[in-house]
Amino acid sequence: MRNIVAGNWKSNKLMKEGAELMDAINKGLPRLQKTEVIVAPPAPFLAHYASKLDHTSQIQLSAQQCSANPSGAHTGEFTAEMLRSCGINTVIIGHSERRDRFGENFDVVREKVEQAVAANLHVLLCCGEPLEVRETHGHFELIAKQLKDALLEISIEQMQRITIAYEPVWAIGTGVTATADQAQEMHHFIRKQLTNWYSPEVAGSTRILYGGSCKPSNAAEIFGQPDVNGGLIGGAALDAESFLSLITASEAS
Ligand code: PGA
Repeated sequence: MRNIVAGNWKSNKLMKEGAELMDAINKGLPRLQKTEVIVAPPAPFLAHYASKLDHTSQIQLSAQQCSANPSGAHTGEFTAEMLRSCGINTVIIGHSERRDRFGENFDVVREKVEQAVAANLHVLLCCGEPLEVRETHGHFELIAKQLKDALLEISIEQMQRITIAYEPVWAIGTGVTATADQAQEMHHFIRKQLTNWYSPEVAGSTRILYGGSCKPSNAAEIFGQPDVNGGLIGGAALDAESFLSLITASEAS
């Protein structure tokens, strides 16, 4: 099973800066043996960047979200099928910033997952607990609830399209990383839930990424954990050198 290192640019970069970053990543990539590299730029750039990648590129593009609705009168929304139609094969769903700031409740996250899977997209499904939940020891319960709810209508076969990203909210953009033990403990827990909800095969073949202040200095230890299959990277994905060194850490893990 290959690791995934995915860069989530969030609302950063203008078109030309992003194109330069894509170029630098492309040029700096070694021939990848055990890592898939995914880059999630802002939505307005996606179709253009997709048209620039040729079949030899080792970079796949992802959107940072998609609509919970199919096509129709939903001003400003873009659907999962629209992403697919411009060459995008992955979408991030349920990122904590979208849950917290853009009203993505459990129902919306579940609907988005269903739209994305119906459009044959690969989903990076995020989960993560806020600090107060961890401090009151509610983190396992909340992560199980977030995932179970988001995957309610997803079949065993469709689980091939799902990758999970565990991103503790207290670690996102804060410089505070979960320890490797904390990451491993939660990833192991998530795998156990997948065994219960689906099967040991699904649990064993679903990639679980860690996200939250992942950077070159801590990546090797985190990616080295048995239940960690790579990372979803924010800040450190905005610079080619640091993103490439995270990919190197994944290749070495
Ligand atoms: P960070 O963000 O690496 O900047 O903490 C990770 C994410 O939000 O996906």
